[in-house]
Amino acid sequence: MEKNYKRVYNFNAGPAALPLTALQKAQAELLDFNGTGMSVMELSHRSQEYEAVHNRAIELLKELLAIPAGYEVLFLQGGASLQFAMVPLNFLTAGTKAGYVLTGVWSEKAYAEAQRLGEVFVAASAKAGNYCQIPALAEIQYNVETAYLHITSNNTIFGTAWQEFPDTEAVPLIADMSSDILSKPFDVSKFSLIYAGAQKNLGPAGVTVVIIRRDLLEKANKNIPTMLRYGIYGKNNSLYNTPPTFSIYMVKLMLEWVKEQGGAAALYQHNRQKAGLIYDVIDGSNGFYLGHAQPAARSLMNITFRLASEALEKKFLEAAQGHGFVGLAGHRSVGGCRASAYNAVPYESCQALREFMLSFYKEYA
Ligand SMILES: Cc1ncc(COP(=O)(O)O)c(C=O)c1O
Repeated sequence: MEKNYKRVYNFNAGPAALPLTALQKAQAELLDFNGTGMSVMELSHRSQEYEAVHNRAIELLKELLAIPAGYEVLFLQGGASLQFAMVPLNFLTAGTKAGYVLTGVWSEKAYAEAQRLGEVFVAASAKAGNYCQIPALAEIQYNVETAYLHITSNNTIFGTAWQEFPDTEAVPLIADMSSDILSKPFDVSKFSLIYAGAQKNLGPAGVTVVIIRRDLLEKANKNIPTMLRYGIYGKNNSLYNTPPTFSIYMVKLMLEWVKEQGGAAALYQHNRQKAGLIYDVIDGSNGFYLGHAQPAARSLMNITFRLASEALEKKFLEAAQGHGFVGLAGHRSVGGCRASAYNAVPYESCQALREFMLSFYKEYA
């Protein structure tokens, strides 16, 4: 295909970069999907052709995340933010309390939402250190009565990530994995429920993936509005009402790409190399670039750093934009700089950022 487009170095925090080959496949199939004479967007969600896409996306997720038997994969809408409410609505029954580990803005939001709906407590918090690390597993407070323990596996805004997960045994462990799902292999069986907005590591915005253990699904509250019940999605293969068909189709294309790359283990190697290119510059800059996360808590997905002054950060971001880099400003709530190097961000983008950071350092240090 003749190259008549310009792709930038996309470090957006989400929605974020998608694999070029997945976008090209969608482009090639846009007007006539599989000989149907229609776009996937125009297919009935009750058609065989759409159902094949839907089921293939579920099957690929199960395969690529090595999801054990006894779990359901669901597709929902409302973003990860709706999960902040759905989790307590479904599982925080009267007389029980849920524990939340606070590791950043998104876990605070999940906690605040649950607080509106039932009794919650802070099981551990990294707030005192401005969220530059993850609490030690031994610091997490909860007991056998705890309704569930909620964690945020990767903190998109502060750039920290859990390096190992707690073993909560009989207490359901629930994780928001929006910004690092499928970036490395992990043991799904430790979790009772995992949720992730797709728009960082799995595909485009519009669909939220939920992985839920069947025994928890069976215990979910039935006395809440239909569309907020996990049980309804489980019973209907996420086809109770019209799902976001095109987003799910894009997730399927992205998962096919992940499989071609060699799966989660290969992506992990790749992600470590990509993030390493940038962390190396930070570490070798004599404090010119100041990493926010403690090295032991560093995220491979969101690399956060500051420069000596806001004026210098502004200069850095403007110069970066001029060199074809997009999305390097930190979240509006914390400022600074952030490079989001999700699964589909190419190695070449990280290499180019490394070169740019080195040359900016040489000029301004
Ligand atoms: C870890 C995490 N949780 C939740 C959200 C909110 O997701 P959504 O916009 O899909 O509601 C985000 C968005 O950046 C996130 O990074």
